[in-house]
Amino acid sequence: MAESLAEAVSRRRTFAIIAHPDAGKTTLTEKLLLFGGAIQLAGEVKAKKDRMQTRSDWMKIERERGISVVTSVMTFEYNDNVFNILDTPGHEDFADDTYRTLTAVDAAVMVIDAAKGIEPRTLKLFEVCRMRDIPIITFINKMDRESRDPFEILDEVEEKLALDTAPITWPIGRSKTFCGSYNIAANTVRGSDIEIEGTPVNGPQSVAGRLPENERQVFVEETELAIEACRPFDRQAFLEGHMTPVFFGSALRNYGVRDLINALGDFAPPPRDQIADTRTVHATDDKMTAFVFKIQANMDPNHRDRIAFARICSGKLERGMKARLARTGKQLGLTAPQFFFASQRQLADTAYAGDVVGIPNHGTLRIGDTLTEGESLVFQGVPNFSPEILRRVRLEDAMKAKKLKEALQQMAEEGVVQLFSPEDGSPAIVGVVGALQLDVLKERLMAEYGLPVSFEMSRFSVCRWISADQPADLEKFLTVKRGDIARDLDGDPVFLAQDGFSLRYESERHPAIKMVAIKEYH
Ligand code: G4P
Repeated sequence: MAESLAEAVSRRRTFAIIAHPDAGKTTLTEKLLLFGGAIQLAGEVKAKKDRMQTRSDWMKIERERGISVVTSVMTFEYNDNVFNILDTPGHEDFADDTYRTLTAVDAAVMVIDAAKGIEPRTLKLFEVCRMRDIPIITFINKMDRESRDPFEILDEVEEKLALDTAPITWPIGRSKTFCGSYNIAANTVRGSDIEIEGTPVNGPQSVAGRLPENERQVFVEETELAIEACRPFDRQAFLEGHMTPVFFGSALRNYGVRDLINALGDFAPPPRDQIADTRTVHATDDKMTAFVFKIQANMDPNHRDRIAFARICSGKLERGMKARLARTGKQLGLTAPQFFFASQRQLADTAYAGDVVGIPNHGTLRIGDTLTEGESLVFQGVPNFSPEILRRVRLEDAMKAKKLKEALQQMAEEGVVQLFSPEDGSPAIVGVVGALQLDVLKERLMAEYGLPVSFEMSRFSVCRWISADQPADLEKFLTVKRGDIARDLDGDPVFLAQDGFSLRYESERHPAIKMVAIKEYH
């Protein structure tokens, strides 16, 4: 019997892994895919990364700096669930990309290095999740190495993140003697992840024999204390973002990954409601709706193809259907939507809420775009952050100015940089959140368009989107400040200021003008 829409939706789990670089995100992703049967041998994710790097020149940056720049999605099935992992760049210079990706998930796995605890980037990403009430499952990784005391790590999570912790498992042993986890709630034990089911046991005492003699007493005392002193898991509190279930493991050595995957299936929520301008869209609503949160171009440099990553919010996407693009009101044929697995792409015949499909296009789709079956509706909340760095692009060959203009437009549509066209007709200004984005821009302009460029300081360093309740107030400001006004890709006006001081000064002098640092796509 065909699966009903409600059944299909309830099986979906769409999540991101958030972590400070080096905590083990790639290794964990690899292991999740391995257990999900999406890859045969762990190592393929990295191997694939390498292949892509050799294929595409601009990724040299990634290789040189050893960072992951590309966001992608990976789908796998495990037990009865369909999991969609949305990968996020670890480096903070690509923060805007990460934040947009987090608008498309229903849950997050926070990976913490057991020796390092909460690191700056973990904190930052956590804050974004909290802003959106995204429930978080915590995975304390690298228990096979010297680590901090588990209680100390839990305390740190509680204090730094103001988040209640509920350890579901407790580590058996530490570093060299680490040999599995005791499931507090279920009273079972799993050694390595080779074991699919946990073995029922009779309390910590009955587990201690797995450890060297000198560690048994400590393990029993500690685990009993954890059972007594820690809060029991409360799913409602977790779904509301107040509590995190905690798992201990070692992604590299295959410990704790199965616990985590089961928790994603059991605890993590199915696709959430999404807020649109006209109504709240429920995942089980009949009609298809989706929004674009990421554009990736030139995955195959031979074809200037662009893939728009769209998260389905409701209904059923069927290959061949027509969708309405809210921004233009035009119809778009979804002839070749794709699913992404670890090592391949596949045509997506049907996709449901929570799924992410790649839609190949030649620039029709932009970040923040809404697709529907005809309804006039726009999803809210895909953010655009005001850039931290503003630069003018200097072209070595002035004859190629037109080509540069086109290339910059394309890069901006993809979200690589933001582009601002000054009202006074002076050359465009590019804006980025982190300096590495400029390196990517430079590399890509050279590799894909044959345009050697360099960057020059602009006389501006701050940029804010502006609006006013009374159109006349805005018009007046635009006229008076014409030399400091530019338009973004959508034609929305921004005010450019030399520094924070002059921004404050102007905003006090013009109270009718609202100046904001975050623009939500509309
Ligand atoms: P990231 O994506 O969060 O940046 O981290 P990644 O998975 O690349 O892991 C960072 C390093 O930590 C890697 O070592 C990886 O092998 C190691 N690692 C990940 N999980 C564990 C674990 O559970 N235990 C131990 N002991 N190490 C772990 P590397 O030497 O930097 O890279 P590689 O050359 O081994 O690939």
